[in-house]
Amino acid sequence: MSIQTIMVIGAGQMGSGIAQVCATAGYDVILNDQKQEFFDRGLANITKNLSRDVEKGRKTEEEKAAILSRLQQSLSIDDAKNADIVIEAAVENMEIKQSIFRQLDSIAPAHTILATNTSSLPITELAAVTNRPEKVIGMHFMNPVPVMKLVEVIRGLATTDEVYEAVRDLSVKLEKTPVEVNDFPGFVANRILLPMINEAIYTVYEGVASIEDVDTVMKLGMNHPMGPLTLADFIGLDTCLAIMEILHEGLGDSKYRPCPLLRKYVAAGWVGKKSGRGFYVYE
Ligand code: NAI
Repeated sequence: MSIQTIMVIGAGQMGSGIAQVCATAGYDVILNDQKQEFFDRGLANITKNLSRDVEKGRKTEEEKAAILSRLQQSLSIDDAKNADIVIEAAVENMEIKQSIFRQLDSIAPAHTILATNTSSLPITELAAVTNRPEKVIGMHFMNPVPVMKLVEVIRGLATTDEVYEAVRDLSVKLEKTPVEVNDFPGFVANRILLPMINEAIYTVYEGVASIEDVDTVMKLGMNHPMGPLTLADFIGLDTCLAIMEILHEGLGDSKYRPCPLLRKYVAAGWVGKKSGRGFYVYE
């Protein structure tokens, strides 16, 4: 399976980062979004990142220009007819993703792999709406994509070894470290990270320690670069709650029950950095 042209669906935070690393690795990239302004925002993000690389001496102006020249704008999903792999990074919504996958399945050539960057939705359920479930796979990049080395490569129930290996090889060419994961709620990263964050919230809820002190314990005691409550604010408390619900429902174990204090913050609209207030207040 040879991959030359990669289509990325969604030019948001993740999609623009994925497009950037693909073009940097020498692939032709079709970056798709629904509106010109969304594409422009993604391209501006990529240009800003590359300009910073030039300033810091990590890239030359010529390399930056070559990377940008490999990026093609797309406002129509029909462009999937030219892709060897599509990496979907649209919003985290099952109905929207299923609709995109149905369309991709009817437009893309038979050899095209359909990958999704979902952080929590079941790959197998997404694959089931297509006529090529063996070519559907999860490719879960971390944020920010140009910086973070990990890709969880998630095999749906029907994903073939050939498709898995093609995506693993692609991840290595993108200078990432792929990890093989089977399709269960939260995959590996969020299954381990979110219960830790939820437990940190319980620790505050039960009055064991203050918000600042819980973060200090994990930073200085465990060498985490950021405390779990600060990290929760960055991720967004609404996203944290949504992932805990998926773990709780999907794995059916009470150890994944979301902390009532997390629910209360989300209900108040205190969802973290993006709303100006979560466990901490942001100016
Ligand atoms: P975002 O909101 O920044 O970007 C989503 C983009 O998709 C927007 O530009 C939107 O216009 C576009 N879009 C929506 N529907 C579309 C459609 N039908 N066709 C084409 N484009 C469409 O979201 P973000 O953060 O980039 O997340 C994207 C995906 O990546 C989600 O599935 C999310 O769960 C996953 N993810 C997010 C991470 C994060 O830290 N933000 C980390 C890992 C995965």
